[in-house]
Amino acid sequence: MLRTRRLELAVLQSDHIPALVDLWSDPEVTRYTGGPRDRATLPAAFQEDLGSDSPFDLWPVLLRSDGTLVGYAGIIPKQIAGRNEHELIYVFSRAAWGQGFATEIAKALIDHAIGKLGLKRLVALIDPENNASAHVAKKTGFVLERTVDRDDGHKKHLYVRTLAETEAAAR
Ligand SMILES: CC(C)(COP(=O)(O)OP(=O)(O)OC[C@H]1O[C@@H](n2cnc3c(N)ncnc32)[C@H](O)[C@@H]1OP(=O)(O)O)[C@@H](O)C(=O)NCCC(=O)NCCS
Repeated sequence: MLRTRRLELAVLQSDHIPALVDLWSDPEVTRYTGGPRDRATLPAAFQEDLGSDSPFDLWPVLLRSDGTLVGYAGIIPKQIAGRNEHELIYVFSRAAWGQGFATEIAKALIDHAIGKLGLKRLVALIDPENNASAHVAKKTGFVLERTVDRDDGHKKHLYVRTLAETEAAAR
């Protein structure tokens, strides 16, 4: 699928599921994204997604060196404040934080959004206290547009990345 210097996005396979369950049930990892999900129901939810080849989805992020699953990332369509948007999402396991992985995959997904998906705009919905995520967004060219109220009652910062066709080609 998509490869960077150290990482690759993989089509979801059943042997990825245990690591994804650990990721989504970790209180620290999910602190700003709805809290830990129920470990009992997560495997079935991932089973439904096995082998998905939708262009808009989240994918396991693997280390190219040894295949370890370190995160989950991708682009998904979402209605935000009455507008159809495409949201960039990156989630990494705690052991993988601080090594530039989110920045590396975000840059690759931005290029993919321009070159392969033909998008002109990406957004990132970020909890106002999630400074690490906001930092990654800003480093990869996102700009804070405004605060939006989500259906769950939470306020999120809406970061926007305008995509120029010439950009990916120039890299
Ligand atoms: C946010 C997250 C994806 C960042 O992943 P990562 O691989 O550690 O990110 P990177 O190493 O590419 O970059 C992180 C940057 O934020 C900085 N940073 C880390 N913690 C920070 C904090 N609390 N406040 C401000 N900046 C912080 C790092 O120093 C680094 O910046 P630098 O490269 O300029 O030094 C990771 O922490 C995570 O998975 N969090 C839980 C899931 C989540 O919240 N995802 C985002 C949903 S909107």
